[in-house]
Amino acid sequence: MPIGQNKPLVRALAGESITPPPWWLMRQAGRYLPEYRATRVKANDFVEMCLTPAIAAELTLQPVRRYRMDGAILFSDILMLPYALGQALTFREREGPILEPIENHAGIGRLKLGQIMSHLEPVFDAVRRVAEALDTRTTLIGFAGSPWTVATYMVEGRTSREFRQVKSWAYRDAKGFGALIDLLVEGTVDFLAAQMAAGAEVVQLFDSWAGILPEPAFGRWVIEPTRRIVAALKRRFPDHPIIGFPRGAGLLYERYITETGIDGVGLDTMVPAGYARAQLQQLATIQGNLDPVLLIAGGAALETAVKELCRMLGGGPFVFNLGHGVLPETPPENVETLATLLAGSNAA
Ligand code: CP3
Repeated sequence: MPIGQNKPLVRALAGESITPPPWWLMRQAGRYLPEYRATRVKANDFVEMCLTPAIAAELTLQPVRRYRMDGAILFSDILMLPYALGQALTFREREGPILEPIENHAGIGRLKLGQIMSHLEPVFDAVRRVAEALDTRTTLIGFAGSPWTVATYMVEGRTSREFRQVKSWAYRDAKGFGALIDLLVEGTVDFLAAQMAAGAEVVQLFDSWAGILPEPAFGRWVIEPTRRIVAALKRRFPDHPIIGFPRGAGLLYERYITETGIDGVGLDTMVPAGYARAQLQQLATIQGNLDPVLLIAGGAALETAVKELCRMLGGGPFVFNLGHGVLPETPPENVETLATLLAGSNAA
């Protein structure tokens, strides 16, 4: 499917400076919205919601209907890929995802790359439904986890604190762990290419745990797999912008941008706007990076921070977003305030 070249989000990712800046929020669909919670109780579990096209499409559209963001991010999860590879996955209330951990070569051997496209067909169906429902100014964003971040969940079996299992496997046995990453690179390319074919105009690679690796491991397990995914997707879909979000990359953001070939970079909350403007904005479109807690705080703190971020970064290619996802405690009216502030914002 061709992409909407005139949509504000697509234009910003092509390098244009746009006033007011296009915006969307990571985790913009979810527990902070009453309409999400109402839909949530209708499904047995989270995986079922992701694999029921009518529900996934409806959840994608809910925040866009309310706030008219410039981007509609597909309602799904980065862990749908391990699920489609055959790894058992459940989501527990307050605990998050639980997977049957993969510990060694034999565990990798049980993963079935050949079945992912048929298992993920409901996801592509959801993309098609959203693409049909969207107006001409809203961009449809597909996504996947990066191989490294997905591997942390596959190996640890859950959200981790120290990442002892996955890091020590990567350090001790780079060849064996590399086989898992290679498989995830291949699966991620197929997963994202199919989303693009179904109507996703932009895709984002979520690398939520990029920041736990020092060099040179960061180069090997974050940059290199991302570079391969970007190159493969660009061969097939040269016009579709790709955003990378290597959360916590710190001083390695610059290397990440120049070596992966992504069009836009998502910055986490800790990256100073002045540094982003001086060192990163000439390399890629900047996306970010308001502290999600400011959306809970609201009031003058929110207003000052939004205006300052737009002043600092709005003069160049910029997509307004948070530095991480919307938190469940966020009052929906503060997102409305954000929408109003952005609509009235002017670049410096
Ligand atoms: O952004 C969106 O609105 C689109 C949907 C989306 C979800 N997950 C839905 C979801 C996206 C883009 C993701 C990405 C994702 N999933 C990431 C990367 C981004 C990040 O936040 O760091 C990660 C690490 C995951 C894995 C995951 N999924 C975890 C750790 C959890 C549990 C923690 C939590 O917030 O509950 C999930 C569950 C999940 N994914 C929910 C939603 C709306 C909550 C499910 C519920 O209703 O209980």
